[in-house]
Amino acid sequence: MKGYQSWLVTATCLFSSATASPSLSKRTALDDCLSSKKVPVYTAGSKDYAQAVKPFNLRLPFKPAAAALPTTVQHVQDAVACGVANNILVTAKSGGHSYGAHGLGGEDGHLMVDMRRFNTVTADAAAHTAVVGSGGRLGNIALALYDQGKQALSHGTCPGVGVGGLTLHGGYGLSSRLHGLTLDNLLEANVVLANSSVITASATQNPDLFWALRGAGAAFGIVTSFKFKTYTAPENNIVFQYNLQPSTTDQLATMLNTLQNFTMYGHPSELNMRFFVPNQLTGVYYGNRSSFDTLMNPLLKQLNITSTSSGQVSVKSWLNTLTANSNGALKQPDVYDYHENFYAKSLMPEYLSPAAMTALADYYFTTARRITGHSWYLLIDMHGGSGSAISSVSANATSYAHRKTTFKMQFNDRIYPDTATYTPQMMSFLNGWVKAIEDASPGVQFGMYINYADTNLTKTEAHSHYWGAHYDRLVSVKGVWDPKRVFEGPQLVGS
Ligand SMILES: Cc1cc2nc3c(=O)[nH]c(=O)nc-3n(C[C@H](O)[C@H](O)[C@H](O)COP(=O)(O)OP(=O)(O)OC[C@H]3O[C@@H](n4cnc5c(N)ncnc54)[C@H](O)[C@@H]3O)c2cc1C
Ligand SMILES: *[C@@H]1O[C@H](CO)[C@@H](O)[C@H](O)[C@H]1NC(C)=O
Ligand SMILES: *[C@@H]1O[C@H](CO)[C@@H](O)[C@H](O)[C@H]1NC(C)=O
Ligand SMILES: *[C@@H]1O[C@H](CO)[C@@H](O)[C@H](O)[C@H]1NC(C)=O
Ligand SMILES: *[C@@H]1O[C@H](CO)[C@@H](O)[C@H](O)[C@H]1NC(C)=O
Ligand SMILES: *[C@@H]1O[C@H](CO)[C@@H](O)[C@H](O)[C@H]1NC(C)=O
Ligand SMILES: *[C@@H]1O[C@H](CO)[C@@H](O)[C@H](O)[C@H]1NC(C)=O
Repeated sequence: MKGYQSWLVTATCLFSSATASPSLSKRTALDDCLSSKKVPVYTAGSKDYAQAVKPFNLRLPFKPAAAALPTTVQHVQDAVACGVANNILVTAKSGGHSYGAHGLGGEDGHLMVDMRRFNTVTADAAAHTAVVGSGGRLGNIALALYDQGKQALSHGTCPGVGVGGLTLHGGYGLSSRLHGLTLDNLLEANVVLANSSVITASATQNPDLFWALRGAGAAFGIVTSFKFKTYTAPENNIVFQYNLQPSTTDQLATMLNTLQNFTMYGHPSELNMRFFVPNQLTGVYYGNRSSFDTLMNPLLKQLNITSTSSGQVSVKSWLNTLTANSNGALKQPDVYDYHENFYAKSLMPEYLSPAAMTALADYYFTTARRITGHSWYLLIDMHGGSGSAISSVSANATSYAHRKTTFKMQFNDRIYPDTATYTPQMMSFLNGWVKAIEDASPGVQFGMYINYADTNLTKTEAHSHYWGAHYDRLVSVKGVWDPKRVFEGPQLVGS
């Protein structure tokens, strides 16, 4: 097994729809339209084109009909108009980190609108707000915010992820229990609509669109900039990691049970924690050492962590706290060229029964532990419970459908080399793990997180697992803002 063995190894950071492929004449007409409106494009066949359409997930090398590189809002408006005029679906790409390559359209034949030039960050430290271009990457945004009055934003851990996809579908990271998801900190978005109009969505302007953007944004328009609420970066943070040693199914199930109960009832907002099954418990605490020890000691005892040698605890500044969890520099190059070849799934349970935890643990000991030649992980983020800012937002306030989720679970299976083929048969490893948990949970339908897009789901499965009870309302909001279905994708709302 090549899983998670050493401290803070976060490999997460190292790191059918409407139209078939449009015909050559349609592509030519699209190119002509973009050229007549002077929208910058990547020239097909060029080195820059190859780089721009290379997905983070190499398993899914979709081919766009054309790739635009707008530098102004007018270019975005014109690009959308050219797509519409030629009956070609339009897709925004920010950081390109979608697990399903949704930034390329999630299938062949879309007009990809690469938002990378929309990457400015302007903070107002006194007001605790910042305007952020939709094409920036998290590491660069964190550095720019910190530079401008030591500001910070609650966001994901990996510095290469784009703020566009992250914000529009969730945005969970190591400040989320205290400050919420990235989408909970969104105050306004500027959006180019399907008819090329530009509008602002906020709590007071176009609130139905604002609701839909916060959980299902890709299907509603192209966001050019976000206005976020920020906070002053905390400087003395406890960064920790403990090594758990379950040696049987029962021990692992007991540990999961302990962690779930702690997440539901004992986990304060100042603590953010994740468990890489079966060994690593890592996280950040925003407080002092004595309160940390008072909080953690009883939990560690329940988890059988009794020796100080099974943990590492240190105090870090804000930027070092981010770096400790990104396992690499925050600064991201203009030409981002790190990729992986993988398949992933998620589960967002409100509660896992003892039987479900036993099934999870049993699959680890009987199957996952024996997998060779792959590098897999199962990451459980302690997302919800009574102390989480995410759960304190009411279920219908945004279209994000997982407010009651306790454990946020990501199953990820990567193969080497990058050029190898991840076959459909290989999907059965993670599918089997999720199925074992589902089979042990009769009558329960678990949510799933579109930011961990699972390409094995049918449209209908994707819609109900990603958006649950919000789906019907999302479809009706889609009918208002994108009635001709310009922003489609294999798993998006309305597709
Ligand atoms: C290494 C890695 C680490 C990750 N870590 C975390 C994490 O810590 N927390 C977390 O919550 N998630 C995490 N994710 C998941 C991540 O949030 C999603 O993959 C996210 O959708 C990526 O956004 P992107 O802009 O980079 O991707 P893209 O592929 O560019 O876009 C994703 C989707 O958003 C749409 N979109 C992008 N920009 C816009 C825009 N401007 N307007 C309208 N639609 C847009 C795209 O069309 C596409 O449907 C991680 C992913 C990876 C690969
Ligand atoms: C803790 O250790 C004891 C003694 O070795 C063992 O009996 C028990 O199963 C362990 N519990 C867990 C959750 O690992
Ligand atoms: C569940 O958590 C509560 C609050 O932290 C704690 O008092 C209780 O002992 C826990 N129960 C179990 C079975 O771990
Ligand atoms: C630690 O933090 C707690 C809670 O904020 C506070 O009550 C306590 O005085 C602090 N202790 C020290 C030594 O700073
Ligand atoms: C939230 O929305 C769902 C689906 O539309 C509805 O059934 C439910 O009653 C709403 N809940 C609240 C508290 O408004
Ligand atoms: C889904 O996964 C199964 C293996 O569990 C595989 O046989 C099937 O082809 C996959 N389907 C898709 C659409 O990926
Ligand atoms: C563009 O679409 C929006 C939403 O459907 C609509 O309110 C607006 O009137 C449209 N603008 C134009 C110029 O048609």
